[in-house]
Amino acid sequence: MARRKKIYEGKAKTLFEGPEPGTIVQYFKDDATAFNAEKRDVIEGKGVLNNMLSEYFMTGLTNIGVPNHFIRRMNMREQLVRACEIIPLEIIVRNFAAGSISKRLGIEEGTQLPRPVIEYCYKDDALGDPLVSEEHIAAFGWATQQDMDDIVSLALRVNDFLSGVMYGVGIKLVDFKIEVGRVYDGDFQRLIVADEISPDSCRLWDVETGQKLDKDVFRRDLGSLTDAYSEVAKRLGVMPKGAVPMKPTLIN
Ligand SMILES: Nc1ncnc2c1ncn2[C@@H]1O[C@H](COP(=O)(O)OP(=O)(O)O)[C@@H](O)[C@H]1O
Ligand SMILES: [Mg+2]
Repeated sequence: MARRKKIYEGKAKTLFEGPEPGTIVQYFKDDATAFNAEKRDVIEGKGVLNNMLSEYFMTGLTNIGVPNHFIRRMNMREQLVRACEIIPLEIIVRNFAAGSISKRLGIEEGTQLPRPVIEYCYKDDALGDPLVSEEHIAAFGWATQQDMDDIVSLALRVNDFLSGVMYGVGIKLVDFKIEVGRVYDGDFQRLIVADEISPDSCRLWDVETGQKLDKDVFRRDLGSLTDAYSEVAKRLGVMPKGAVPMKPTLIN
């Protein structure tokens, strides 16, 4: 197979040029990073699980009419997505307090918030993805007011969908992060959900026990990350019960 052109090497994924114009191949790596990449490790099978789980969530979003970049999964580690201009924001939706909001505002972890709270971080590794306000976003032109309305609407729809899907398998969606990108259909432009939706980008707690089933297992050294992600996949029927994540598959 002809070698594909690498477009970008990220922390968790590598992007390659896709087979058709306007498409990108997202390759899910086993690399795990946290605390602005100060903590890092390779966790065998993580990429496979995130590829499958992101496919599952994006397909679900497509089925309920939430536009997103997913086209199709190509193999265990790669998926074809629609290329878009990423808005340089991490859009965080919080249903319960955890992580940075607990620290910042002194709210005990696990406290239900009065309503879903949306926060924005400016996507810049060198700055450590700092929290920004809508005032910053507008003033620096990262997104227009129309974009912000669309972003809030997308974020809340993803929240309701994901919360419901997770609740159905006994998992509480504490918070999650999405990225959105701009696509053009002729003269018409719109925003779609991009990047990934996986336990890397969500906080997921077992409803009964409170057990963490997300990247906090890695951040806080709470045990096996693949076991946690496999549990999520098994409950959702994304992986057959007892299946061991595949060994990394070679590409190219
Ligand atoms: N559909 C898309 N089109 C273009 N870029 C995308 C798309 N989906 C995700 N991306 C970008 O691809 C990169 C994914 O790799 P990742 O390892 O998550 O990178 P990072 O280390 O920047 O978080 C991110 O920079 C993300 O913004
Ligand atoms: Mg990323």
